[in-house]
Amino acid sequence: MVYVSRKEHFNAAHKLYNPAWSREKNEEVFGPCANANWHGHNFDLIVTVKGKADPDTGFVADLKKLSTLIRTEIIEHLDHKNLNTDVPFMAGKLASCENLVVEMWKILEPRIPQISKFGSLHSIKLYETPRNFVEYFGDDHL
Ligand code: NI
Repeated sequence: MVYVSRKEHFNAAHKLYNPAWSREKNEEVFGPCANANWHGHNFDLIVTVKGKADPDTGFVADLKKLSTLIRTEIIEHLDHKNLNTDVPFMAGKLASCENLVVEMWKILEPRIPQISKFGSLHSIKLYETPRNFVEYFGDDHL
């Protein structure tokens, strides 16, 4: 099994805020991330496909095609957007990295056969800051 990855980048704004809670409770749990007037991040997104190499190309997945797929299906919907208000697939969900990677998985996983003959989606890793990141392997289908 070979694992191939493509890194993409986007900028977006959000706040962490549970509408079922009071403002005080939100500030207690989320701290400055609950700031009512939003804050932004420079996100790095790493998508990994696993599989065996196609004997015709030597590739598990054509990374140019993987890049196009990620940009078309994910980045164009998120880049320079407000994750709480502008992104249909995040509607009604807390705009956390954990929820983002699960929604990204639902979008990308069924489309991997378009760009890889023998591969499947292995993981989605999302860096919110250089030190904070989440990784999803699609194993619990939240
Ligand atoms: Ni944040």
